[in-house]
Amino acid sequence: MDQKKFYITTPIYYPSDKLHIGHTYCTVAADTMARYKRMTGYDVMFLTGTDEHGQKIETKANEAGVTPKEFVDRIVEGERGVLDLWKLMNISNDRFIRTTDDYHCESVQKIFKKMYEKGDIYKGAYKGKYCTPCESFWTESQLVDGKCPDCGRDVHDAEEEAYFFKLSKYADRVQHLLEDTDFLQPRTRVNEMVNNFIKPGLEDLCVSRTSFSWGIPVDFDPGHVVYVWVDALFNYPTALGFLNDKYHDYEHYWPADVHFVGKEIVRFHSIIWPAMLMSMEMPLPKHVYGHGWLVIDGGKMSKSKGNVVDPYVLAEMFGVDALRFFLLRTFPFGTDGNFSNELLIGTINTDLANKLGNLVSRTTGMVEKYFGGTLPATHEDDPMDCELKKMASTLRERYEAEMEKFQFQNALEEIFKVIDRANKYIDETTPWTLGKDESRRDRLAAVLYNLLETVRICTTLMQPMMPETCAKIFDKIGANCESCRSWDKANVWGTLCADVTVQKGENLFPRVDFEKALAELNAMQEAQKKAALPAIELEPYAEENVDFDTFCKSDFRAVKIKNCEAVKKSDKLLKFTLDDGSGTDRIILSGIHKWYEPETLIGKTAVAIINLPPRKMMGIMSNGMLISAVHTEKGEEKLNLLLVDDAIPAGAKLC
Ligand code: MSP
Repeated sequence: MDQKKFYITTPIYYPSDKLHIGHTYCTVAADTMARYKRMTGYDVMFLTGTDEHGQKIETKANEAGVTPKEFVDRIVEGERGVLDLWKLMNISNDRFIRTTDDYHCESVQKIFKKMYEKGDIYKGAYKGKYCTPCESFWTESQLVDGKCPDCGRDVHDAEEEAYFFKLSKYADRVQHLLEDTDFLQPRTRVNEMVNNFIKPGLEDLCVSRTSFSWGIPVDFDPGHVVYVWVDALFNYPTALGFLNDKYHDYEHYWPADVHFVGKEIVRFHSIIWPAMLMSMEMPLPKHVYGHGWLVIDGGKMSKSKGNVVDPYVLAEMFGVDALRFFLLRTFPFGTDGNFSNELLIGTINTDLANKLGNLVSRTTGMVEKYFGGTLPATHEDDPMDCELKKMASTLRERYEAEMEKFQFQNALEEIFKVIDRANKYIDETTPWTLGKDESRRDRLAAVLYNLLETVRICTTLMQPMMPETCAKIFDKIGANCESCRSWDKANVWGTLCADVTVQKGENLFPRVDFEKALAELNAMQEAQKKAALPAIELEPYAEENVDFDTFCKSDFRAVKIKNCEAVKKSDKLLKFTLDDGSGTDRIILSGIHKWYEPETLIGKTAVAIINLPPRKMMGIMSNGMLISAVHTEKGEEKLNLLLVDDAIPAGAKLC
């Protein structure tokens, strides 16, 4: 019989910035699904990659002073880039596509031409609001207060020659696909697509650009580059060798079984994508799954807010598997999830350290303590074992039902119900009491064997989520052969040898010091937020003019700092004794202690306005004000006392 096939994809990522925990979330989920399918005997193709064309990349590369290709190479292949991240996260993709790969570009050109020759792509004029400095077209609704959303400048009506795809032609077929089949999941996303996009009328889609050049050229019309979404979406079949010679398994794997995509790109995948495939007369993917977002305090993660969560930091602090587990266990895949450090550490401690880690270490520890590491072959069963045995040996079925619906959280929930039951079973059977009684050795052996079998089954099913940890658990519990780690044996009770040998070894998941880890993460995030603040912020410029005569009334003088000391009981004020050239010392108080140690200023030449009305502060009369320059740097107020050339004599007037 032919092996069943499963083709799964993640979105291909824009390498315009480093990837964050949100991108990691989808890739970990897809990896889990791919590993699960492989475990259940499927021939799996798991694809991920990068979407490297478009104006945004071109602009960023220009800003960085490198070519677009150099720019994306750095983010994709460079240190801590996309490839490094997937390696770190133990992502088992079978293929990685970059849309700048020659074979992909060649296929896309052929695809574009095919749709053009068919009449589904035609030449027309793109009308919109144009921002000249940004060289960008915008629709009315994209404008912010009628201005360019990127630079805030004026836009004007403009037209540009462009190619269009006849999206409208496929509207009915797409609507039927969405409403009458399970193509788009979860079902809740269907209404949004149909009501917001299809029912109001699908307009033909502009599929070429002439305002920038970083894209795949339309080979029959120089000057036009293919719209980045057309280029990107077709990665799914080109990566299999569709219309290119790089690979040869298009026939084998296409159509995809599922595209995992984030909610904001569901529109492209559930409307534009099937319409273009219909035009190309290619089979449609079986499912598109629109997952939710990881948000922070209910809002989007963004570089400008400085709240982007770095998967490297978390994986280094807590381990890759703990991070993978957290992402899958905590958030339902179909809806948004609120990420927080508290939740992360809490989940690791509760589920991994307390529940799973403890179960494994207690069980293997007791086998070592009471039997020197190897169970005796004779076990005495008891009816009280039935519930645990039944729960564990039927777990695979419940798990499978959830995994087939991409409900990783529920699948793990089912596993943890069994882990909880096993921990309770320890309390019920009190092996430490049995261990004191020589005549109960066979009973004790049965209890520990039941626990080991439960751990084996749960571990088998958690392999897709935590591959490395599960391999370690198998080693600990003596599940040494391929077969006893297999899916086929995950519903067969009694798979481990009766006289199994265990090795407790090190703790799998040491408890995380909650307060310490939280403080560390919070401090890092604070630093990141600070770094995201503008480098320099200036005070707003005065809007009102001051007339010349008024200005001239201000008497600015060069002053020599004869003495400077902190004012008692004040943490802000410094008391300056100044030579203003008049022959009498002038006292001025200034609230600049935060920025200066008083002794460092003695002997310097500063500038003071001397005809302000005298003012009493902390019981001392201040006669004037020293002039400073102020600005904000990374959110922090900075001040520099205005110091001038020491060659300027005391009392010289500034005008
Ligand atoms: N290049 C397109 C996809 C083309 S697929 C043919 C793209 N790239 S992206 O890098 O901007 O986003 C890739 C994926 O990451 C999207 O599915 C997006 O939803 C997902 N995420 C980005 N931020 C996210 C979160 N905060 N949470 C979860 N996923 C999020 O779109």
